[in-house]
Amino acid sequence: MGKIIGFINQKGGCGKSTTAVHFAYWLAINKKKKALLVDADAQCSSSEWLSGMELSIIYQVVQTPDDLLDQIPELASQCDLLVVDGPASLAEATRAILFRADLAIVPVQPTGVDLRSASDAVRLIKQAQSVRSGSPKAAVFVSRAVKGTKLKDEAYALLSKTPEVTLLKTVIHQRQAIADTSGQSATVWDLPSRPAKESAQEYERLFKEILALL
Ligand SMILES: Nc1ncnc2c1ncn2[C@@H]1O[C@H](COP(=O)(O)OP(=O)(O)OP(=O)(O)O)[C@@H](O)[C@H]1O
Ligand SMILES: [Mg+2]
Repeated sequence: MGKIIGFINQKGGCGKSTTAVHFAYWLAINKKKKALLVDADAQCSSSEWLSGMELSIIYQVVQTPDDLLDQIPELASQCDLLVVDGPASLAEATRAILFRADLAIVPVQPTGVDLRSASDAVRLIKQAQSVRSGSPKAAVFVSRAVKGTKLKDEAYALLSKTPEVTLLKTVIHQRQAIADTSGQSATVWDLPSRPAKESAQEYERLFKEILALL
């Protein structure tokens, strides 16, 4: 049975799909693992992104809460790691993912509004942990941080007060190279620019932290 890692946060645009696609790619191509991505997002952004890629990363679109609950275990039995790209806004689908995941990862943008909405994700995580005797493990990382912004420090101060979730050390910075990847059906590992290389290093550090939690 493969481990199940869900990227969740009902706040739109925080980087769930971008991180999930990069993680699935990194696992499959760089780490030679059998990775499968479950696209639970109604916009199907991650599955469309993967379908355009030259190197094939396997994915499956599963969207309703019932289908997520039913199908995630079967899909996890077919791979080493199942990466679930969670939807925006839909609490019930997010809850279904949390009832099946071994590890939930919450990307959070370091702005006041986003920090407040992260507490909704933390609430769902705590509910699942209470029902499932402590599972899933959970972690937060600061996503799309603009270099030199003070809010990053405030984000750390706030997030470190939540003992149910681990605060990951790696920060993924806002970079045009990352924004460019989905339109090109690529990842930062495919792009030659220096900013892309820097983002690739950040992702690699983040993903090693995530694997260490499993
Ligand atoms: N580190 C980054 N630097 C620059 N742009 C980024 C970064 N991360 C994500 N983006 C861009 O921000 C937008 C939102 O990212 P993404 O689609 O991954 O978020 P999401 O959490 O999946 O959103 P939704 O909740 O709508 O599914 C996309 O246009 C993406 O290219
Ligand atoms: Mg998405």
